[in-house]
Amino acid sequence: MTDAFSIRPAGQSDGTFLGEMVVEAANWRTGGARARHEILTSVEHRRYLSGWMRPADAGFVAVDSDGQSIGAAWYRMLPQDDPGFGFVGTAVPELIIGVRPIWRAHGVGRTLLRHLLVHAGEQGHPRISLSVEQDNFARGLYRSEGFVVVAADSGRDTMVHRLA
Ligand SMILES: CC(C)(COP(=O)(O)OP(=O)(O)OC[C@H]1O[C@@H](n2cnc3c(N)ncnc32)[C@H](O)[C@@H]1OP(=O)(O)O)[C@@H](O)C(=O)NCCC(=O)NCCS
Repeated sequence: MTDAFSIRPAGQSDGTFLGEMVVEAANWRTGGARARHEILTSVEHRRYLSGWMRPADAGFVAVDSDGQSIGAAWYRMLPQDDPGFGFVGTAVPELIIGVRPIWRAHGVGRTLLRHLLVHAGEQGHPRISLSVEQDNFARGLYRSEGFVVVAADSGRDTMVHRLA
């Protein structure tokens, strides 16, 4: 494996890979303990994927030098009656991110995050939110990219980045 990777916009056909990244995010602590099928069919996780790609969805995929997908970051807007973990208001997109285990700590996550934040700003979104468990190191990554904690509950932080 070389350390070379590139970033491309996510498309309709990336839905299956985004599902893999939802599984990585849900299993960050246990490294795969929770079954893939169980995660992908659970109400709290499938809302980040169902119907991908909707008009307001946007994302980026990191690919290795062979063109294999190795990570993704995307956002979507969820309604008040079906909010995500990081819901802060209607019309505020919520971010999801995951990187394949073998590629972690190589700068892929930060690069994806930066691409998505620039894009969200270009799309005119004043804010973008996310949810992270307080003992996930990703919290420090988000903070270093300008996210601030706006709410905390049951070991999770809701964080918001102001883009305007
Ligand atoms: C969180 C995640 C997306 C970050 O992507 P990544 O490619 O591993 O992160 P990067 O290599 O861009 O590193 C970002 C920062 O985190 C730090 N970091 C990376 N791995 C770390 C680890 N295991 N422990 C502590 N810090 C770590 C890096 O030092 C880096 O900071 P630096 O630029 O100052 O050196 C990825 O690790 C992942 O998919 N984790 C499992 C799923 C998950 O937790 N998703 C987020 C749910 S909210």
